[in-house]
Amino acid sequence: MNKNIQQLYNIGLKEERTIIGLMSGTSLDGLDIALCKFRNSGSSTKIILTHFETVPYNNQFKQSVKSIFSKRQVDLEKVCLLNEWIAEQHATIIHNFLSKNNIATNAIDLIASHGQSIYHAPKFLHQHNMYGNGTLQIGDGDHLAVKTGIITISDFRQKHIAAGGEGAPLAMYGDYLLFSKPGENRIMLNIGGIANFTFLSEDLDADKIMSTDTGPGNTLMDAYVQQNFEGKFFDENSLIAQQGSINEPFLNALIANDFFEKPLPKTTGPELFNLEYVAAAKASAGITAISHADVMATLNIFTAITITNAIKKIINNKHFVLYTSGGGKHNTLLMQHIKQQLNNCIIKDMNEFGINPDAKEAILFATLANEAVCGGTTNYGKNIPSVSMGKISFPF
Ligand SMILES: Nc1ncnc2c1ncn2[C@@H]1O[C@H](COP(=O)(O)OP(=O)(O)OP(=O)(O)O)[C@@H](O)[C@H]1O
Ligand SMILES: [Mg+2]
Repeated sequence: MNKNIQQLYNIGLKEERTIIGLMSGTSLDGLDIALCKFRNSGSSTKIILTHFETVPYNNQFKQSVKSIFSKRQVDLEKVCLLNEWIAEQHATIIHNFLSKNNIATNAIDLIASHGQSIYHAPKFLHQHNMYGNGTLQIGDGDHLAVKTGIITISDFRQKHIAAGGEGAPLAMYGDYLLFSKPGENRIMLNIGGIANFTFLSEDLDADKIMSTDTGPGNTLMDAYVQQNFEGKFFDENSLIAQQGSINEPFLNALIANDFFEKPLPKTTGPELFNLEYVAAAKASAGITAISHADVMATLNIFTAITITNAIKKIINNKHFVLYTSGGGKHNTLLMQHIKQQLNNCIIKDMNEFGINPDAKEAILFATLANEAVCGGTTNYGKNIPSVSMGKISFPF
């Protein structure tokens, strides 16, 4: 037997696995690193998050990725070069993270790497009849494995598409395994660049799991701030939006898009929700002059309404608790709007589970890696492909 396979086999048999989950989302704020200890798999999974950090990306990284991110026409050589370069950057970040925390490389069993999304093209967006759903994450796993010396599981989304999904959201797998609870309907809402949620039914019925994107999370607000406020990356604590007023015609124009009429589940990205989308809505509402603060106030409530409309479709007057994660939970005005739109429903966050809410996505990918190596037996019901995801890269 190849010694790599032997090593992987041994990891699968261990009582406890140490897995680094990596998440680099569409916001390009930084690399989330979650160091987790796993016991068991499937619905018996036990996880402890021992270390978490978001390592901010420098400008060079942001600009490099932005030059190809969610654009239909790009320099193909750049894509090719960044596939390796992003993995190299991530490997360096991991190396620094481990040495800073005095953790030896050989204490880590696996890396679970999401990679950097550069394009997400569900059929609804591309509308080419001959093609199915598509998505592309780069920052190749082989490079990460060789540069870190740690077995790396990566590129989780392709299997989901191959098995009939849109490649996203993948959160429902980990949400179902880690956070289902008998007697409580739960909405696990993550507000990253794009917002998505998983519905977990109080009877734990897998057939009732629903996971969908709802539309923009932070992406439109971030893009507008980056365009109009030099040196700012996002609307910290919604200070800009709070100074503005909601412009109703603009809001209505933002909401008037086929995406929001499409039945759940669905997925999307900045390929649709971008500054051109904002400009088109402004134009169709006949707005010629509007302050930046009013735009931000309107984008803020637009984001909240599209999130809560999708939740209402699933919840149908049922009692539920909303658990929030992702950077958008720090946007105070957004969270106020969400609470108001949902009739003051109970809102909790991942701290309830002893987990830093910002770490959730990285933890979910670590959970997928744990499943890839020693799980794979869970039935996720009729709506979700019951597959193991991730490609395995060996260091040697
Ligand atoms: N204090 C804050 N006030 C307002 N917004 C914040 C604050 N902190 C973070 N954010 C928002 O959160 C964003 C980062 O969120 P997050 O890291 O969850 O998104 P992501 O990297 O795109 O991940 P995902 O894959 O979930 O989309 C920032 O770009 C910003 O818009
Ligand atoms: Mg992020």
